[in-house]
Amino acid sequence: MDLGREPVVPERAVPPVDSGGGADPEAYAGELRRFRSRVGRSIEERERARRFLPNGVCSNFRVMDPHTIFLVSARGSRVLDADANEYVDYALAQSTLLAGHAHPAVLAAVSRQMGRGTMTCFPGPRTADVAAIVCERFRLEMLRFCNTGGEATQYAVRVARGATGRDKVLKFDACYHGGAPEFWLGIPEADVPPGAPEWMAHEIHSAGIPRALVSETIVAVYNDLESVRRAFREHPGAIAAVILEPIVFNLGIVYPVEGFLEGLRAICDREGAALIYDEVKMGCKLGLLGAGERFGVPADLVCMAKSIGGGFPIGLFGGRRELMQVIESADVKHVGTYAANAVALAATRATLTEVLTPAGYDRVFALNRALAEGYGEVIARLGLQAHVVTAGASGSLFLGRHPVRSVQDFKRTRLTAWMPFWVGMVNRGILPQAHGPEDIWTVSVQHTDEDIEATLRAFRDVAPLLA
Ligand SMILES: Cc1ncc(COP(=O)(O)O)c(C=O)c1O
Repeated sequence: MDLGREPVVPERAVPPVDSGGGADPEAYAGELRRFRSRVGRSIEERERARRFLPNGVCSNFRVMDPHTIFLVSARGSRVLDADANEYVDYALAQSTLLAGHAHPAVLAAVSRQMGRGTMTCFPGPRTADVAAIVCERFRLEMLRFCNTGGEATQYAVRVARGATGRDKVLKFDACYHGGAPEFWLGIPEADVPPGAPEWMAHEIHSAGIPRALVSETIVAVYNDLESVRRAFREHPGAIAAVILEPIVFNLGIVYPVEGFLEGLRAICDREGAALIYDEVKMGCKLGLLGAGERFGVPADLVCMAKSIGGGFPIGLFGGRRELMQVIESADVKHVGTYAANAVALAATRATLTEVLTPAGYDRVFALNRALAEGYGEVIARLGLQAHVVTAGASGSLFLGRHPVRSVQDFKRTRLTAWMPFWVGMVNRGILPQAHGPEDIWTVSVQHTDEDIEATLRAFRDVAPLLA
């Protein structure tokens, strides 16, 4: 079973080509015209929605350039938009649907549960059953279910604070952990290149977050152990936890350099801080086990959501018993009306036991390998300044040849060339990834060989735009 791979880069020497976007302006203008002519109903729907919903959407991540696409249905690997355009979907609800859309096994489990009631806010025997399945699979001793990834990260930090009696949390620059204010802090970039996410320019990534709410957050640099050591030196005995995605899935896909996770583990052990893996997005993508097993470096606490629920809202945080028990023994409060919702639990159980099976993974990894290699071949043939990186079921296209290990590396990719890629692929019936150069693609268990072929056909057509 393939548990993730290093970058697939073009191997032959190629002549240098322009950096900084560089799409043929006439061809790109044609693609933009074609895009607009295909999404007329989406444009109308957005205008209508804006009367009731700021931006016309319910999460800022759903605002897309050149236009937000409104979807009306989704099944298997495909989605249908308001203009009746069908797409092969690799965005998969921001990498949530490793099970694909409306997986029959998940729907069957959910409808069985709905016949028995949708929620009670009383505990039931099935909650512990699903907890046992998750604990065994991901090597957790105890967990609590919640509803979202953002809740999971927030509560994991609360548990770490309760257990250590310390207040500060260390996160990494440009790394996303959900909506809690304390995670919306970064190192502002003096020179944000065109095409880069706008939040890179700001220290606090959203208006409406008072400085007091980020005053216990410390920002270090991913893949830079010295920045972590420095933070611990500057705040002795004050840092409760280090939180990170072991593989960053929100800046394209960025692997930890050799020794980085081991180094974090050693620092946390020495300093008495908890190491928290945010596996909300990468969770389940690498195979049957979690990142601790994949890298041989266990965390103290792990956060999961997205893929475990097969399309239903569920999250969880868990890990070492002595930490999780502070909820019992030290009065660390975890609450939630919808926590361990019966329908979401039924979906989770079906997803983990019937959908994300060894056979399911073999298939997904083979498809993802075919997709990545197909992209790689086109990139090499055209000598594009680009490469792809995969991790299990997911992948990202970097529009640059240099390996991306940091925000600075990411900034040096041709960020403005990403839009021609997106527009061109969408015009050809492919949602190639979640929207934005910092996001990624995921292949689901319901994708097919035909989907991959259609995607590569589209990419062959679009790739010359990226030269
Ligand atoms: C790494 C990571 N952590 C946390 C979250 C927050 O999850 P949710 O949107 O379910 O709150 C996300 C969402 O994309 C994520 O990518």
